[in-house]
Amino acid sequence: MKQFKGLTNREKRAIYYRAMPDVWIAEVTGEKPWRKQTEILRALALHRRVAVASCNSAGKSWLAARAAAWFLANFYPAVVVTTAPTDRQVRRILWKEIHSLFNRAKRNGINLGGKLLTKSWEFTEEHFAFGFATRDYDPDAFQGIHSDNVLVIVDEAAGISESIWEGVMSVVRGQNAKLLAIGNPTNLSGTFYNAFTAKGWWTTHISAFETPNLQGKGIVIPGLITEQDIEDAREDWGEGSFLWQSRILGIFPDKVEDTLISLSWVEAAANQDFEPEGPVEVACDVARYGSDSTVFVARRGPLLIAGEEHTQLSTMETAGRLIDFVRRHNAMVVKVDAVGIGAGVYDRLKEVLRDVLVLEMNAGGTPIDASAYADAGTEWWHNLAKKLQAGEIGGRLFGDRRVMRELTSRRYRYLSDGRMKLETKEEMRKKGFKSPDWGDAIAMAYAGVKERPKINVRPVMDLTSASRWRR
Ligand SMILES: Nc1ncnc2c1ncn2[C@@H]1O[C@H](COP(=O)(O)OP(=O)(O)OP(=O)(O)O)[C@@H](O)[C@H]1O
Ligand SMILES: [Mg+2]
Repeated sequence: MKQFKGLTNREKRAIYYRAMPDVWIAEVTGEKPWRKQTEILRALALHRRVAVASCNSAGKSWLAARAAAWFLANFYPAVVVTTAPTDRQVRRILWKEIHSLFNRAKRNGINLGGKLLTKSWEFTEEHFAFGFATRDYDPDAFQGIHSDNVLVIVDEAAGISESIWEGVMSVVRGQNAKLLAIGNPTNLSGTFYNAFTAKGWWTTHISAFETPNLQGKGIVIPGLITEQDIEDAREDWGEGSFLWQSRILGIFPDKVEDTLISLSWVEAAANQDFEPEGPVEVACDVARYGSDSTVFVARRGPLLIAGEEHTQLSTMETAGRLIDFVRRHNAMVVKVDAVGIGAGVYDRLKEVLRDVLVLEMNAGGTPIDASAYADAGTEWWHNLAKKLQAGEIGGRLFGDRRVMRELTSRRYRYLSDGRMKLETKEEMRKKGFKSPDWGDAIAMAYAGVKERPKINVRPVMDLTSASRWRR
C-alpha cells in the first residue's frame, strides 16, 4: 500500500493495528471477536461516533473492554473514559474484562504495561484510562478531559441520564475524540435512542439470532446468549413483547404509550447496589383466583431482598408460610392485601405475630392523595414508578424475568377529573396478561401508609423508625 512507503515495520504494524482492532486483539491475547464484534471494532477505528443497540449477552461489555485496551495501546497520548450507570457494571463487568484481557496478554508473553487497578489503567499523566459509574458522578467533571486522542465508552447506554450525556457529548465535540455507546435498546428517548436516527453516527443492531451460539453449532462461545435463553424468553415474555424486541431482537420496541414503568428503570434497579439498612418490611399479595399466585416479598430500606411465590394454598396455609417468611427475614412490619381471601390471612397474622406490625392494605381503598389517584393501588404503583425512575430502590430481584415483565406491562389512564387510574386486572386478563402478582407485592412493599396504624402489640418495638407507632 502506498501509505506504507518508507515506513519501518513497526510503524506499518501500528497503522495496521489502528485500523484493525480485531487483529490487535487476536495477536495480543489470542482471543477472537465474533463477526459482529469485529464489524463494530473496525467501525470504531473509522468513525467518530458508534452506537450499538444489542440483545442481551451478545458480548457488548467484552467488546467495550477490548476497545478501551486497543485504543490505549495504539494511540499516544490517549485518554480512555469508560462509564456505565452503576459501579457494579463498571467494576465487576467492564473492568473485569479489561483485567482478563491484560492477564491473557501476559500469559501470551506480552506485557501491556502501565499500572492496572480496579477501575483505572495508568501509564503517564497524559496517557491513561479510567472508569466511573455515572450515577455517582458530577457531569461537570467531563470538562477536564483533553487529549490528542480521546475515547469515551458508554456501556449500558440506555441507562445513562441526559445530564451525563451532555458531559459526554461536550468531550466528544471539542476535540479528536471517539465515542462508543453500546447497550440494550430499552429506553425510547434520549441521546442513545436519538443516535439511531441522527446524523454523524455509525449505528448497528445485534439480534440474538445472529450471535455465535445460535448458528446451529451448539455453544461456541460460553457466556453468550443460547437457544435455551431464547426459549425461556419466548415463554416468559412472548414474541413481539417489549422485552422480546429489546432484549432478544436488539431493536427499539414499538412505543407503548401508557405503560407506567420503563424497562430501563427496572434494569437499572436490578444492577443497583444498596446497603441494606433499617427494619425489614414484608408485603404479601394474596391470590384471588385459582390461577393467581400468592407472592411474598421483603425489602430492607431501598433494597428488595427476597421474594417467593406460592400457588394453590388455603388461607391457613398461606398464613403459615407467610409467618415463616416474616420470621426468617426478621421483619418488623408486614403488609397484607386484606381484601377477599386476604382478610383471613390478615386476621390470622394479627393473632399470631404479636411482635410484628401487621398492616391491612387495600388496593381498592382510598389513596393518600385522593386528588391525584383513583385508588390506593394506583398510588402504590405510581410511587414505585417514581422511585424506580429516580434510581432510589433496587435489588437483584428486579432482574427476575417475571418481575420485569409485570412491572413494565402495567398501563394506566387518566379519568376525566384528572386522577390517574391503573388498568384493572379484568382488563389485563382480557388481553391475555396474567395477574401481576409480583408487581403488586413489590408496589405494596414500597407503599406509604396513610393512617397511624393500629398496633397489636403492647411491649413496644425499640426500633426508632417504628416508635412513632407506639400508643
Ligand atoms: N468474542 C468472545 N470470545 C470469548 N468470550 C466472549 C466473547 N464475547 C463475549 N464473551 C464472553 O461472554 C460473556 C458475555 O459477554 P458480555 O458480558 O460482554 O455480554 P453483554 O452483551 O455485555 O451482556 P449483558 O447483556 O448482560 O450486558 C462474558 O463472559 C464474556 O467474557
Ligand atoms: Mg454488558
